[in-house]
Amino acid sequence: IKQLSLFDRVGGAPVIHRLVDLFYMNVLAEPKLAPLFPQDMSLVISKQKQFLTQYFGGPPLYTNEHGHPKMRARHLPFPVTKERADAWLACMQRALEETTPEVALREEMMARLSTTAYFFINKEE
Ligand code: HEM
Repeated sequence: IKQLSLFDRVGGAPVIHRLVDLFYMNVLAEPKLAPLFPQDMSLVISKQKQFLTQYFGGPPLYTNEHGHPKMRARHLPFPVTKERADAWLACMQRALEETTPEVALREEMMARLSTTAYFFINKEE
């Protein structure tokens, strides 16, 4: 029997889309993160919906359209400090609290995202 992916368990595309929309509202309201992002967020938002879909085990939408993610390398032009990784994760935690009432599921998603976010750190504070 095949295990359901996190993507399926969280509620699929509608939930991932809402999560990403809420997440970037939090990011733009966070002074530690907002200055890194462009004025027009539409491309970032659409790429993040594709990326998190595949990251949580759904269809490989990001790779199909943009090729191999190489996501750490894509973040190298931006100064990612431990403080910014923590702020990024806090924005995601608050978005998840709105989309996903089940605490265990949120914790599973945040555990994965934390590993990835800390792996992206590329600059001392
Ligand atoms: C793009 C910041 C962590 C996924 C970006 C961009 C910035 C950024 C500044 C580029 C915006 C632009 O296009 O101008 C950060 C910071 C992080 C972080 C400060 C703190 C650790 C993550 C994590 C993930 C992620 C953990 C996924 C699990 C993405 C994706 C894009 C992106 C998918 C779009 C990539 C593309 O252009 O194809 N991020 N990010 N980021 N980030 Fe992050």
